[in-house]
Amino acid sequence: MKDLSPKKNELEPIEIASIDEIRNLQLERMKWSLNHAYNNVPFYQAHFENLGVHPKDLRSLSDLSKFPFTIKSDLRANYPFKMFAVERDKIARIHASSGTTGQPTVVGYTDNDLDIWAQVVARCLRASGVRKGDVLHNAYGYGLFTGGLGIHYGCEKLGCTVVPVSGGATTRQVKLIEDFKPKAITVTPSYMLSILDEFRNQGLCPDKSSLDVGIFGAEPWTNSMRQEIEESFDMHAVDIYGLSEVIGPGVANECVESKDGLHIWEDHFYPEIINPHTGEVVEDGENGELVFTSLTKEAFPIIRYRTRDLTRLLPGTARTMRRMEKITGRSDDLIIIRGVNIFPTQVEEKILEVKELAPHFQIELSRKERLDEMLISVELSKLGEIAKIQEYQRTLSENIKNSLGVSVKVLISKEGSVARSEGKAVRVVDKRNL
Ligand code: DLL
Repeated sequence: MKDLSPKKNELEPIEIASIDEIRNLQLERMKWSLNHAYNNVPFYQAHFENLGVHPKDLRSLSDLSKFPFTIKSDLRANYPFKMFAVERDKIARIHASSGTTGQPTVVGYTDNDLDIWAQVVARCLRASGVRKGDVLHNAYGYGLFTGGLGIHYGCEKLGCTVVPVSGGATTRQVKLIEDFKPKAITVTPSYMLSILDEFRNQGLCPDKSSLDVGIFGAEPWTNSMRQEIEESFDMHAVDIYGLSEVIGPGVANECVESKDGLHIWEDHFYPEIINPHTGEVVEDGENGELVFTSLTKEAFPIIRYRTRDLTRLLPGTARTMRRMEKITGRSDDLIIIRGVNIFPTQVEEKILEVKELAPHFQIELSRKERLDEMLISVELSKLGEIAKIQEYQRTLSENIKNSLGVSVKVLISKEGSVARSEGKAVRVVDKRNL
């Protein structure tokens, strides 16, 4: 793999500023953001008043814990535009979450917000080893989802050549990579695996492709998956994080030189970790739910938004700003099966330990005579032999039983049998309450 580490003089001054400088800037910006939300969004005014707090009560960063949380249902209740803090005609763009469970969540951006978004995405791409002039193949979906357009404008901001492919049409994805020879690719990790299969199906060697780095996010993925992708393509695989309520992709990114968790761009997004049961803020280093407060957003300020993502905060390494550990899962994704707690990422790790299995998988939960059952559907890899399927099934279910403590059924089928997604993978199908 090539050394893609950026030089110190290529970074923005704030990326290597002192902690004190960053904290001072955050305090000044946090005061602005709380006032902006309170003065311009009736929801925040009522929400703060209910708890008897006023933006002037914020004197230090830790005072933020006095303010109320914002949750997804608050955004839904204010559908579509009631969370906006500027006049409608100042909104330059709208994005929305898919809203699989009811009303979509709508977010808006002013021109200035779009500019900051492009800047933080450019920072992510540079941290990943992308440089001005590089060709980048963007396979995140374009449209209301923030992935496609968010990456697109960050890429242009950095001065790269962006290929706006969007998701889907996997055969064409491979053709364009072969013909345009991009140095970088941005795509969900699960869809990257489909692209990998397509390379092999076309008789191409993925490790001979032009790609030097892939920037993967929008869904949880493990370090085992990183290794699989890095070895197959002989390229770096780094993690990018974000959510539409906070801005979209570009909230945090791994640095290619360290790959030790994602640096949060704390000059724009202030992180806290809370105990998800009590709402108490926990110390850095402790696990819990990630909460964000925007510091500079005009159109859609967000105060103490509960992301449901589980991680912990760690001190800065390659940059001064704090890191968040790779996300293990969302509290909504936690599978509780016969009293045992499991995240799909833990199943992913176990599958990747068996070389005869491919990392495409789906978990189905069902209930038989009041007992929960978990079925893992997975595919044979190129190394797997059909005659030995039962042996692999036994190996995987025993490994899962021994390490995760739960008995599962495993169904191994040939390549292509597990449903593919062209964006975020659907890892769990829960049929227990049907
Ligand atoms: O997924 C934004 C994005 C696009 C991020 C492209 C990275 C790349 P939403 O659709 O609002 O936004 O979904 C946000 O996706 O709360 C996490 O649960 C999950 N997620 C995003 N990035 C990661 C990641 C985009 N790197 C939700 N690791 C978040 C794990 C991630 N989960």
